[in-house]
Amino acid sequence: MTQVQADRADEAAGQDITPLLQPLQIGQLRLRNRFVMPGMQRFGCVDGAPSDRLREYYRRRALGGTALVIAEACAVDHPSSAANPIFARLDARTRDAWRSCIDAVHEAGGRMFLQLWHAGAVDTGGTSVPPGFVALSPSGLAHPDTPFGRPATTGELAAIKEAFVRGAACAREIGADGVEIHACHGYLLDQFLWPAINLRTDRYGGPAISDRATFPAEVLQAVRQATGPDFVLSIRISQWKEADYEAKIVTSADELRQLVSILRSSGADLFHVSTRRFWTPEWPGSDFGLAGWVKSFTDAPVIAVGSVGLDVDVMATLTGEEARPTGASRIEDLLRRFGRGDFDLVSVGRSLIGDPDWVAKMSDGRGAEIRPFRRADIEFLSALC
Ligand SMILES: Cc1cc2nc3c(=O)[nH]c(=O)nc-3n(C[C@H](O)[C@H](O)[C@H](O)COP(=O)(O)O)c2cc1C
Repeated sequence: MTQVQADRADEAAGQDITPLLQPLQIGQLRLRNRFVMPGMQRFGCVDGAPSDRLREYYRRRALGGTALVIAEACAVDHPSSAANPIFARLDARTRDAWRSCIDAVHEAGGRMFLQLWHAGAVDTGGTSVPPGFVALSPSGLAHPDTPFGRPATTGELAAIKEAFVRGAACAREIGADGVEIHACHGYLLDQFLWPAINLRTDRYGGPAISDRATFPAEVLQAVRQATGPDFVLSIRISQWKEADYEAKIVTSADELRQLVSILRSSGADLFHVSTRRFWTPEWPGSDFGLAGWVKSFTDAPVIAVGSVGLDVDVMATLTGEEARPTGASRIEDLLRRFGRGDFDLVSVGRSLIGDPDWVAKMSDGRGAEIRPFRRADIEFLSALC
């Protein structure tokens, strides 16, 4: 650790994070504190099934105090969901391996959700695209300037919806505490919400957010119907896309209110609001981040996320910049926003990749012992278990 990093960690070590250590009840689900590990691809699957090493990686985060572990994006059981076989999948062949991850997290005192994902028009294939693979999306666009694959027919959308339903039913059967529907970062369900690339003229497109939310809402409704009232359904949304940090699914608080209301009434009982920095104001005139705005429009719990413990955001990391630990003021700001009621839970991503005991160390004043996250950690599960 450099001297600067050590000084920052020392400052943060003195923080009293007691408010974030209170349990939270969501329906039948009790979380022991407010810390969540968000879904993060770790490339530790073999043919879509988590390896023993990946299971150990998840178990260690639960053992280190994280209340809720959300598995990396799992491709749903449809041929168009992800081109590359390195991604996690949830289907009949991988369910037992996922069950064993869930069991391991439970034994370590944590709770676990599986994240259900369809890549849509994003090119996830690299050099490994299987013959005949066709990317399906609202309008065959990954970005306004980037055609990719083709628009899905309504019949194909019905089949994709059923794949989400099968995934959620499977997650429930194997003991998951809930599922998170991935509708963020520029992948399929988010592509419906994003007006710049959803050009459909059927019931799944249109100028109003209520038009563009129709397919994600139908997915939520179908999943809710199949899993019953007690299974926790999280929906993960974002303005930003991996392909465009300035993209917007909604341009005003009123549009956001409509979206939140549609998703809530369609069955969401938890909102995971993805931002790259939790402290960035969403609209002028208020210091509310996107999570704070969502919370102001719903009675459901909200998860905030973005650069907790680190000074640069996830995309800076993924494009080559090394992150450094932040000092006490950022944690103070997190606590201030939490105390004000902007969110109920907080996701800690890269910091938890770097140190599985991040929550435990922050909880008992051992912040100075936190192993700082390094970019290289993303490449390997290695010593991180
Ligand atoms: C290596 C890596 C993989 C990720 N994979 C996913 C994913 O599978 N699903 C998802 O919703 N977000 C994914 N994300 C985004 C994280 O969930 C999180 O929102 C982001 O890292 C910001 O949190 P942080 O600043 O605390 O790291 C990934 C991030 C990283 C660093």
